[in-house]
Amino acid sequence: MKGRTYIGELKDMAGKEVMIAGWVDVRRDQGKLIFFDFRDMTGTVQGVILPKATEAHAVGEKLRSEWVVQVHGKVNARPEKNVQKEKLNGAVEIEILSIQVLNEATTPAFDVAGAGSEINEETRLKYRYLDLRRPRMQKNVRARHKIQQLVRNFFTAEKFTEIETPLLSATTPEGSRDYVVPSRLEPGHFYALPQSPQQYKQLLMSAGFEKYFQFARCMRDEDTRGDRQPEFTQLDMEMSFVERDDVMAINEKVLIEVVKTLYPEKKIQQIPFPRMTYDEVMKKYGVDKPDIRENKEDPNLLAFLWVIDFPFFEKDDKGGWTFTHNPFSRPQKEHTEWLMEKKNIGEIKTTQYDVVLNGYEIGGGSIRNHDPKALKKVFEIMGYSEERIQHNFGHMLTALGSGTPPHGGIAWGFDRFLMLLHNEPNIREVIPFAKTGEGKDPMMGAPTTITDEQLHELGISITKKKK
Ligand code: AMO
Repeated sequence: MKGRTYIGELKDMAGKEVMIAGWVDVRRDQGKLIFFDFRDMTGTVQGVILPKATEAHAVGEKLRSEWVVQVHGKVNARPEKNVQKEKLNGAVEIEILSIQVLNEATTPAFDVAGAGSEINEETRLKYRYLDLRRPRMQKNVRARHKIQQLVRNFFTAEKFTEIETPLLSATTPEGSRDYVVPSRLEPGHFYALPQSPQQYKQLLMSAGFEKYFQFARCMRDEDTRGDRQPEFTQLDMEMSFVERDDVMAINEKVLIEVVKTLYPEKKIQQIPFPRMTYDEVMKKYGVDKPDIRENKEDPNLLAFLWVIDFPFFEKDDKGGWTFTHNPFSRPQKEHTEWLMEKKNIGEIKTTQYDVVLNGYEIGGGSIRNHDPKALKKVFEIMGYSEERIQHNFGHMLTALGSGTPPHGGIAWGFDRFLMLLHNEPNIREVIPFAKTGEGKDPMMGAPTTITDEQLHELGISITKKKK
């Protein structure tokens, strides 16, 4: 908008005439004087319509909260006694000369000024575009961007390349259920949405990129919880020619840099981050993601912890073996022989490392098994047939046998990290368009039925599930 001044710039403009544009935040009628707070993406400012501005007064009487307006006015310094030092524009106000209404607003479904915690969450998600107007949500969403920007700059300076990987893919074993997408061209066949870019990032190492990262969207059909969403974001990275300590060191460095640069009020309990083995944490705390904060009352204390030396396999409910974290991980060097000979399976330790923050697992990764023969043993231990191994992982085995360097990486649960930095009770508060506990999007009405015509085209018929 030509000639527009952002509200955040008004504090130094006393005496000037300006045009601002934004929302009516609050309106206070005091008889002949009408006061407003106006809001744009940079802040709020108080405006006043004096009785002599008759035209503006007539418009001002109609204005309600959340209407969108363009205001022409004069920036006045407030008298000393009225200065509110703690506010961005506490030393100025706008004397309104004219107002133009750009859009009216029906009475909002809820108040958008407060924290919103008293409002039913389904309602908040149904009107998310209103909910996102509240200052706390604006702050959280903008913080996502700031952290992403810092992380991008950090990894770029370290010679990493940001590479996008497909969403329409094939099923991957990340330990959860896949979301599937039917193929129209090949009825009866399905894509799977990625639970993580795990295989792609390893294939990028095979392809010679050496250092990859991505803010990756991951989809997992699992029960939603406070720290789990069906769709979430990972900061995913992978490096070639590295050992465990290289990956841990660079990630520790960027995590510290995010905190020190963007959250200077926070205190990291211990640097370098302490390390404990899986056996140690289980013995001491009984969980593999302990909250080791010395003072749990302190909202600014961040207690990072690396957990290492996890068992590779555990028994599944059917009595067979399954992986604890990631089938593509390399066992620890001294246990490679056990893997190759398929013995002492329960005692084989993996190179997996998890990063824990204040009792939440915020990331996990490993050094990968880049020897195709050894990777095949993992699938054999899990009881996969030769046919299934070739069908699901033939491409990985072939790639690993095509000159793939040793490599390893990690993925952080980006939403969880942000939730903890902002002391939010769940990750829905830091995800712009989150889903409900039942995995629904009440705003878009997803998931939804599709037409018979669409079903027919996909060669799909729906059967009612037996209760
Ligand atoms: P993993 O499955 O441990 O590893 O995921 C990495 C991190 O992602 C976060 N996370 C989630 N956050 C929100 N909602 C969810 N449903 C959810 N599931 C996981 C956690 C977790 O630590 N490919 C491997 C990484 C690697 O080995 O490099 C992977 O996805 O914070």
